[in-house]
Amino acid sequence: MEKVFQALEQEFQKVLETIQQIRDLDSVKTSFLGKKGKLTSMMKQLKDLSNEERAEVGKKINRLKTAFQEKLDSKRVTLKKSEFNKRMEKEWIDITIDPMAEETGSMHPISIMQQRLEDIFVAMGFEVLDGPHIETEFYNFEALNIPEHHPARDMHDTFYFEDGHLLRTQTSPIQIRGMEKLDPPFRIVGPGKVFRCERTDASHDSVFHQFEGMMVDKNISVANLIYFLKTMLGEVFESEVEVRLRPGYFPFVEPGFELDMRCLLCAGEGCKFCKQVGWIELLGCGMVHPNVLRAGNVDPEKYSGFAFGMGIDRLAMLKYDISDIRPLHGGNLNFARVFSIK
Ligand code: DAH
Repeated sequence: MEKVFQALEQEFQKVLETIQQIRDLDSVKTSFLGKKGKLTSMMKQLKDLSNEERAEVGKKINRLKTAFQEKLDSKRVTLKKSEFNKRMEKEWIDITIDPMAEETGSMHPISIMQQRLEDIFVAMGFEVLDGPHIETEFYNFEALNIPEHHPARDMHDTFYFEDGHLLRTQTSPIQIRGMEKLDPPFRIVGPGKVFRCERTDASHDSVFHQFEGMMVDKNISVANLIYFLKTMLGEVFESEVEVRLRPGYFPFVEPGFELDMRCLLCAGEGCKFCKQVGWIELLGCGMVHPNVLRAGNVDPEKYSGFAFGMGIDRLAMLKYDISDIRPLHGGNLNFARVFSIK
């Protein structure tokens, strides 16, 4: 009899060891302790034993019953613990991570610079105008005093459509559109994308951004031009700036100038930043050519004006110390994130 008990205990132990999930414990209980279980059927055999034997075997069976139940209970606790630990490992979260961090957007450096320029000029009484990217030859060239076959068109090689339209090469057409819309006196600025058939390098791209400006009134002179551009640069670079004008040729202004700014890093001594010149070339400007005023229905006998056009990309590169124009248009989010405003 003793052997039978031992074998049963061993069998129970073996079965219990194979159990991995709590829900399987019930079937073990049924097969050993249930109504038709192995231990219960042994109880049924008690009646065939003598009184003495029955008392002893009965005790033994009861002890086994209690032992099996205890083992089942402690197995249940162990499995519960390990299931909990597994879940904790799978569903672990780091509550110290800021859940909104990845969602925060940021402004592109070109947009930051464009908005800054718009704010500066709006504060000085200028109106912000827009113009189409796809232009006619009239607005992009002819009205700007660049007739067909004029050599200035060579520098503005661009992408033409079959119907004669083209991708604008400059924001200067906004001057003509502005004159058509407004009666003098007026002050306008026009930011936007421009396109040229360029060989791409660190400072050239086939798409870039310009910021055009024009002021038309009675008795406008070069002094007014210098005042507004100097004020604008002082605001952008947040310091007093020194500027100089050099003669420059643009068919739509007469006289025309290139405006340079004294290098802010070396104060004119000469450094890597200004290529040892002490000055930084910034933009083209001048007094609006009478032909251009006429093309915009403004009487050059009564009114005069100044105009300027500059690269927003170039200004952003100078301000934020970016040495290559290409990442500005490269679409790499990590690049734009550096400029994120929080
Ligand atoms: N449109 C010229 C360019 O793309 C820049 C420019 C020069 C604009 C002189 C002007 C200006 O309005 O007066 O090179």
